Amino acid sequence: MTSIVISEDSNKEEEQKEEMKKCVKQIASVIQSLPKESVIAITGAGISTSAGIPDFRSNTGVFATIPQKYNLPNPQSLFDIDYFVENPKPFFELSKDFILSHNQYKPTKAHYFLTLLQQKGLLKRVYTQNIDGLDLKAGILDEKLVMCHGSYESGTCLSCTNKFTKDWMINQIKSITTLEDCVLRCDNCKTGIVKPDIVFYGEELPDKYFKCHKSDFHGEAKRNCKFLLVIGTSLQVAPVSTLVENVYVYTHRLLVNREKCGTFKKISDCSLEIISTKNEVEESYFDFFMGEPYINSIDEAIEMLCEELNWEEELKEIVNSL
Ligand code: OAD
Repeated sequence: MTSIVISEDSNKEEEQKEEMKKCVKQIASVIQSLPKESVIAITGAGISTSAGIPDFRSNTGVFATIPQKYNLPNPQSLFDIDYFVENPKPFFELSKDFILSHNQYKPTKAHYFLTLLQQKGLLKRVYTQNIDGLDLKAGILDEKLVMCHGSYESGTCLSCTNKFTKDWMINQIKSITTLEDCVLRCDNCKTGIVKPDIVFYGEELPDKYFKCHKSDFHGEAKRNCKFLLVIGTSLQVAPVSTLVENVYVYTHRLLVNREKCGTFKKISDCSLEIISTKNEVEESYFDFFMGEPYINSIDEAIEMLCEELNWEEELKEIVNSL
């Protein structure tokens, strides 16, 4: 006869799964008691990977897979304004596939979760670092959305500042056949390079970022954010990475991401909910983390939350209606 032996490890794993379930319950109960317009979301490339768009810093991300042929000084040069002015071809060639195929990408469950928060009147703002436009496709309203790193929705000539539409850029890009002619030239001044209005390293963020930052994170208004939802970002690029520190003390903050990052790293391994201390004793946030090793993906985390909140049907309705 073979007897079942439960090892210490599997006991520990079970305990941790139980703890995680408790943590999801706690997060759900926080969400259920939130006042109107009290959720601010910060999103990054990880929210879109299940739609088929790579992130930047994972093993399969853009920075790890840039072809050697471009001979870039470093992967980030791809989005460096000084490098772009000198040699815009790698950026345009790599953007070409994205721009031409971008209609095929659909928002993910996490994008729709934000739309659901908006429908319920809970969403104050989404600060996205993404340039894929999936937040707009998911129905996030313009007044709720800050595209911190710009978008491909328009372009600007770097010489004469003439503006170009997305359709104009798409048509131009369609006619590109070789790396040699892989640059968008302005048809107004005839010489300038037309750069899509995405924010490169070394460039200022859009005015809307600063305007919304002022109304969301300054003075008394700062107290209105009761729940900060951080999804799919490594929090490595400022100033967006600093937003997580801009909320009022005692705010609940949830990181949904493969790994802990930024100040969320302080969350201990055995507990999924902690009070993370910002400034020793007085200044604390209430932090939660949903990620590996207990939760495999952002989609899975969102499914768990929706199940706990009893929002599954509403989420499905949004997905089907858009
Ligand atoms: P990163 O690639 O730095 O981070 C994406 C995060 O999402 C990583 O921590 C991944 O582990 C996580 N992730 C990816 N897919 C996931 C999944 N399915 N489930 C759970 N976690 C997942 O992307 P960002 O933080 O958005 O700037 O990068 C910030 C900025 O750096 C970008 O906006 C871009 C880049 O330079 C510009 O282009 C100006």
